[in-house]
Amino acid sequence: MSKQVTETHFDADTIRKDELEYVLYPWMFQKGLNPLVMDHAKGNYFFDTTGKKYLDFSAQFVFSNFGHGDERMAAAISQQVTRLENAASPFATEPKARLAKLLAEITPGDIKKTYFSTSGAEANEGAIKLARMATGKQKIISRWGGYYGSTLGAMAISNDYRNWACEPSIPSVVHCLGPYCYRCPFGATYPNCDLQCAKHVEDVIRFEGGVKRVAAFISEPIVGANGIISPPDGYWQKVREICSKYEVLLICDEVMTGFGRTGRWFAIEHWGVVPDVIATAKGITGGYVPLAATCMREWVAKEFEDKQWVHGHTYSGHTLAMAAGAAAIEIYKADGLIQRSADLGEYLMERALELQEKHPSIGDVRGKGLFVGLELVKDRKTKEPIHEPWFEGQRPPTAKMKVLGKALQEGVYCLPGQVSVIMLAPPLTITKDEIDHAMDVFDKALPIADAETKR
Ligand SMILES: Cc1ncc(COP(=O)(O)O)c(C=O)c1O
Repeated sequence: MSKQVTETHFDADTIRKDELEYVLYPWMFQKGLNPLVMDHAKGNYFFDTTGKKYLDFSAQFVFSNFGHGDERMAAAISQQVTRLENAASPFATEPKARLAKLLAEITPGDIKKTYFSTSGAEANEGAIKLARMATGKQKIISRWGGYYGSTLGAMAISNDYRNWACEPSIPSVVHCLGPYCYRCPFGATYPNCDLQCAKHVEDVIRFEGGVKRVAAFISEPIVGANGIISPPDGYWQKVREICSKYEVLLICDEVMTGFGRTGRWFAIEHWGVVPDVIATAKGITGGYVPLAATCMREWVAKEFEDKQWVHGHTYSGHTLAMAAGAAAIEIYKADGLIQRSADLGEYLMERALELQEKHPSIGDVRGKGLFVGLELVKDRKTKEPIHEPWFEGQRPPTAKMKVLGKALQEGVYCLPGQVSVIMLAPPLTITKDEIDHAMDVFDKALPIADAETKR
């Protein structure tokens, strides 16, 4: 008989003290941290050690897409632990076969094969390597103001206030401008703009060596961490045409936008476009187990029939993650969560627009499905941001942070982040009443930002 592993229960102060002593927190200045100690979670809520309840209005880091503590996930994961917890990647397993086939069914067009890894950054690293190896070309074009992860390659293609940490970055990565209708970098207005943002992609590809040199164009279909920025209709169709013309792989980073977040399985489907590669993670298991996927069209996969795929991780296709991913997709389907995101997303958008009417600090409201951003400004006319959206270094709490702090006090959690956009991305299981409650809390917190406007 195997021995029981001892479980110890610490009080909140001990947990906080031990973490601060032994854990290096991601993205943080370590001095002065005072983390909330989370005790347990159920459905759309989590609870601290005093029993206080918080509505999770950003699905943690936009991964808890069907809420916390789902018994079906517990069953799928625990049954897999005792049957086969993990197998080395050359072995075939039932959960891996099931999940890969399910992904082929839900991804657009002829996207069929998947390379599995464990984080969004790794999914993008895999995509970069796929593009370089499949085309024999080196250059990767991505957009300023994107976030793809914190490993060196993923950070090289990213471009925001965090990039300095990996500079000089990997070579042959080039950035270009992306669409941002609220602050169009071309000074134009849709639809009279003739999609300058898409034409610009063609210019950059040509200048960078076109068919001969450019391996891939990578982007989030809807920018996530840097402000929930949805492109104008026609942008993705045009970019798809351009990529095909120059034999450039089109890679969509659907790490945040995948799995129903925007009201479709994958956000790129809003524009009827089939990318060559989709990199995804987060919602793929609803956050229950770390998992990421780099899914590719058949022609890309075929390149590796006679060419070695020189890439891998010990935990590629981890059996528990495979079981979790397959169970998660069954849950999305059984509970109709993709359509639910589209429907409740419309309601969330309506309510967010009502907030904008009342609060001068909200300059723009945008998004799709349950992925809605409130961009905070000092002045609606000039669109001066309420604070520098990107900032390298430590700064006193911004108006946005104060609003989020007040909301947290009132029991509504929204993830922070640097840009001056509040990201509303609740679990797809959110109810209308819960949306109303969160909007009421924001209604009471937003005067903090309004007070900093030039009305
Ligand atoms: C669009 C996007 N891509 C990639 C990543 C990186 O994912 P991970 O943190 O799992 O490496 C993120 C993380 O937030 C993301 O939002």
